Amino acid sequence: MRIDIITVLPELLKSPFKASILKRAIETGLVEVHFHNLRDYTTDNYKSIDDTQFGGGAGMVMMVEPIDKCITALKAERHYDEVIYMTPDGETLKQSIANQLSLQENIIILCGHYKGVDQRVRDHFITREISIGDYVLSGGELGAAVLCDAVIRLIPGVLGNETSALTDSFQDNLLAPPIYTKPRDYKGWKVPELLFGGNFQKIEKWREEQAYLRTKERRPDLLDE
Ligand code: ADE
Repeated sequence: MRIDIITVLPELLKSPFKASILKRAIETGLVEVHFHNLRDYTTDNYKSIDDTQFGGGAGMVMMVEPIDKCITALKAERHYDEVIYMTPDGETLKQSIANQLSLQENIIILCGHYKGVDQRVRDHFITREISIGDYVLSGGELGAAVLCDAVIRLIPGVLGNETSALTDSFQDNLLAPPIYTKPRDYKGWKVPELLFGGNFQKIEKWREEQAYLRTKERRPDLLDE
């Protein structure tokens, strides 16, 4: 998979890709991540990427031209399955969206800033708009990092144990069940006895029940979906 991220703050975005699972996914060639500084696609001496709003109103708007130049240059090189715009008014990121995107070949992610982008960018280039939650960030970069993390860990081969992503919370619209490790007894806080019996059928059933109970208690909305 190849991800091209368009941003005015590439430095803000780079560190999440330099550690742990994302770093390994890049090193093993399972994913390529490229950062494009929008200011490299400007034509004026000030490298302007934004301007005031037509019709008045507070806040600057990202201009269509540098974004057009950048996306058009990328599209001339390869086909993109999705051109995603990170914005608080997009569809809220869910595990199902991460699953879908992890199957794509090439995607572009555009990070918004200031008031956002000129509507014509959204009308003519963007195929999908994604929000990471009902709050407003200073820009789309942190949202893009969250999206990339959620997607990249699902690419086959990225996680050492292929099954571990399948038992994540949300994968079946259920939260994950409780988990335990050594010691069996810590200060009298005991691990459920059933986990030691070696009866894997019983353990699996217990986990399913626990996942259901936890979901019912914390996120009943997921059970309705
Ligand atoms: N940009 C600003 N706020 C955002 C959010 N909640 N999700 C994605 N991108 C954003």
